Amino acid sequence: MVIKMQQDDVERLKEAVAYEALEYLQEFTHIGMGSGTTIRHLIRLLATHSNRNMVFYPTSLDTELQLRKHKLNVGVLGKNPLDIAIDGADEIDNAGNLLKGGGGALTREKIIKAAAAKYIVVVDETKMVTRLGQKKPITIEILPFGYLNTLKRITAYLSRFDIEWHLFRESKKKLGPLISDNGGILVDVKVKQIFQPKIVEKDLNTIPGVIENGIFPKAADLALIGTKNGVVKKRFISQT
Ligand code: A5P
Repeated sequence: MVIKMQQDDVERLKEAVAYEALEYLQEFTHIGMGSGTTIRHLIRLLATHSNRNMVFYPTSLDTELQLRKHKLNVGVLGKNPLDIAIDGADEIDNAGNLLKGGGGALTREKIIKAAAAKYIVVVDETKMVTRLGQKKPITIEILPFGYLNTLKRITAYLSRFDIEWHLFRESKKKLGPLISDNGGILVDVKVKQIFQPKIVEKDLNTIPGVIENGIFPKAADLALIGTKNGVVKKRFISQT
């Protein structure tokens, strides 16, 4: 039986997870800060539960604005190694593979993830899948130059996974494609499911014009998962 959750219930789960995440962050100084609605809850809580030494490295303009609004320290990436990064996700499977990009921040999120010694993912239980791609599209950020050609090559490659639909992401307040924080265009491709995410991530990034894609293979060291029965902690080993 499929139980459909109300948006309010999901929001409560996100808040519970954000609250739990506070505890994990207390011992760290240089913290990569993801993007999305769960992270927004976390930033709001950090405004009153952070210590003064903490410096946060945002993965999007949205997160940077939120951090500044709450008077939290914003750092410049590259000066110090990041102790940890924390982020949301659109999907997570049993091996800690992630699908990200629903907020369009995937490229900066991947840069921050790569710079961090540890990676925590904060999700609610609606994000859990047995195989990536089952619920959400693969988001791919591409350069505006040659975008139709790049799309053609992306869809030719992904056709092996049965494409259900694909589109250039648009926003309600701008005509034409949505432009990312990096000046890129976002392509969403919904496939049936993704096999061998590590290979697909690499292959997509070899297509000329592709900046980055939202597959994060074996990314999570720890996932905090908000469920109706409380927050579940899932640790993953041998992450790359
Ligand atoms: C941003 O591009 C995404 O990867 C977000 O991290 C993800 O969409 C977060 O989802 P929530 O808004 O549900 O936290």
